[in-house]
Amino acid sequence: MTVPDPLNRFRIAGALAGQRIGCEIHIALETGSTNDDTAALARSDHPEGVVMFAESQSSGRGRRGNEWLAAPGSCLLFSILLRPAHPPRLWRRLTHLCALALCEAIDENTGLRTGIKWPNDVYINGKKVAGILVESTARGGDHPGDEGFAVAGIGLNVNMLADEFPPELRATATSLQLESPNRSRINRTSLAIGILHRFNRHYPDSLADPRFATSLDQIRMRSHLLGKQVGALVSGTRMSGIAQGLGPDGELVLVGPDGTQHMLVSADLVRVLNPDPASSIPPR
Ligand code: BTN
Repeated sequence: MTVPDPLNRFRIAGALAGQRIGCEIHIALETGSTNDDTAALARSDHPEGVVMFAESQSSGRGRRGNEWLAAPGSCLLFSILLRPAHPPRLWRRLTHLCALALCEAIDENTGLRTGIKWPNDVYINGKKVAGILVESTARGGDHPGDEGFAVAGIGLNVNMLADEFPPELRATATSLQLESPNRSRINRTSLAIGILHRFNRHYPDSLADPRFATSLDQIRMRSHLLGKQVGALVSGTRMSGIAQGLGPDGELVLVGPDGTQHMLVSADLVRVLNPDPASSIPPR
């Protein structure tokens, strides 16, 4: 397989030289899943910060076991190996930090305006442009022996064209190129460098208090859900309410119709009920 404008490993590695995240850069032309490849690197003692990119994946996966589909050479598909020194109870913050780094780098590189749809999606103009899948081996305790590793997998639709999306996703998914005013192709290598720079800026210090609180303020400002009527599936139960805020670890605070406050750590099928198209751009 050849791709028209392949990712440039030397440029990425050069730009990230000396930084924690990006200390080793791998690029596969084709693989199963970069999350699996990165977990395998973790098990063979590769250091924190290894980044595994792929031009194409045959078994890319998203949350809830969904398939993650991407036209070869058109997206950024990559995974970062993390070995946080922080207690595993703080690791769920990683998804939120990844989302923030992605948004900042996309905005800076493209002039577009991104928002975060809790917990793991990046949106532009009301459509999903990127998803994050953090998989970890941590057992959840706070003891040093519990340390494992986390793999932060990111799929970002960069130059996907409308007819490259499966028909059932065309109304809800988009790419940076499709959202750019002049529809010009975006340089994936520069964008990858920008994302990894941003992630280096937020990690690892922002995983711990009080720095995470500052990042959370920025995440809140970009939230696609806050202040809106939201529906979600929580452990198999449908819930709805007003998304009132984010808790200290990034939990979604949902206030139900009876006024009860729920702190959601994770949920599936999260969506805005009765969306108002004029309010799809998050406040800044
Ligand atoms: C989601 O929105 O459900 C998360 C999607 C995450 C997809 C990325 S693509 C790179 C990495 N490898 C995978 O198999 N999945 C993640």
